[in-house]
Amino acid sequence: MIQDSFHRKIEYVRIAITDRCNLRCFYCMPKEGIPYEPKKELLSYEEIIRLLKILGLLGFKKVRFTGGEPFLRKDFVKLLTKTKNLGVYDSINITTNGTLLLKYLDLIKELGIKNINLSLDSLDPKRFNKITRRDDFNKVIETLNRLIDYKFNIKVNAVIMDGINNQDIIPLSKLALENNISIRYIEEMPFNGGNKKKTDLFRARDIFKVLKDHYPSINKKEFIHGQTATKFSVDGFKGDLGIIAAFSRTFCDSCNRLRITSKGSIKTCLYDNGQFSIRDFIRSGVSDSDIKSKFEELIKLKPKNGFEAEKSIKNSKTQRESMSMIGG
Ligand code: GTP
Ligand code: 5AD
Ligand code: SF4
Repeated sequence: MIQDSFHRKIEYVRIAITDRCNLRCFYCMPKEGIPYEPKKELLSYEEIIRLLKILGLLGFKKVRFTGGEPFLRKDFVKLLTKTKNLGVYDSINITTNGTLLLKYLDLIKELGIKNINLSLDSLDPKRFNKITRRDDFNKVIETLNRLIDYKFNIKVNAVIMDGINNQDIIPLSKLALENNISIRYIEEMPFNGGNKKKTDLFRARDIFKVLKDHYPSINKKEFIHGQTATKFSVDGFKGDLGIIAAFSRTFCDSCNRLRITSKGSIKTCLYDNGQFSIRDFIRSGVSDSDIKSKFEELIKLKPKNGFEAEKSIKNSKTQRESMSMIGG
């Protein structure tokens, strides 16, 4: 078990296995995309498994694979299998845009992977296309339906932006009326890979107001440690609703996360500048015990919260990072 200097137990690693994506969500990437890293700059699967094994020695219990779109990377299912065979992680989780997942569903199910977070910002095909700059709406809906049929634990992620898709809050919520899934509304964060200012913030409390006006019986659920979403139940719903104050950062006290970006940088906070390259370190021929000590050292430096992390990098950047490199 490893703790940071604020006595938070750190046991959840998120790995962005690629920076590539087949969508162009405007809150994440400019329309021309971002300059992708050459393949050799990404951590290889062997390197990822080595790191996961070492993190296991430090008591890590949960792993999430993200991207970019993780299913764009060749043989992702092999990586999942190898991770499972480590026998270290209680849960293997995936965050995906749902455009490429269908043909892997049986394999994933067979591996015992249950938790899928799916990005879906609108139930209106036109708005979906406008936000993602691609026309994959039908594919994503089909994926969602199949995931429901297969009884995966599904969390739908919708980044809510004022004047763009706040009218989707109620239609999206209805997915949780009929199905035992979570719908989570997310505040936009400033990681869009360009110089574009983010849209005016539609805050967690604004989202809550829309929900409360429509569902007066909405009730806050008990907060589970390490969770980003404040969750709510609504009378008669099979699933639940959640709000992720990703920009307001109200959950940092219970943060249990470490991130590895697509180019192998360690981020102990989503808002820090990820200055340590574990990829270069691992490639310099160090031993497992050197890597373990390095993780221990970095975890001790984890900032108190996302505001402190941001302070240390303010003014140093004109170009914003893209979420597709960080992995969310
Ligand atoms: P689980 O709790 O494992 O389901 O993960 P999650 O909900 O955090 O993961 P997901 O990849 O679905 O991300 C949902 C949203 O939460 C994305 O917009 C993430 O960028 C955001 N998010 C995830 N972790 C953090 C965090 O540590 N800090 C902040 N501010 N936002 C986060
Ligand atoms: N702000 C908030 N959430 C974002 N995501 C991607 N970019 C941003 C951003 N700028 C979300 C995606 C996905 C998750 C990994 O992060 O919608 O669901
Ligand atoms: Fe791709 Fe996800 Fe970024 Fe959208 S948010 S462009 S799905 S990485």
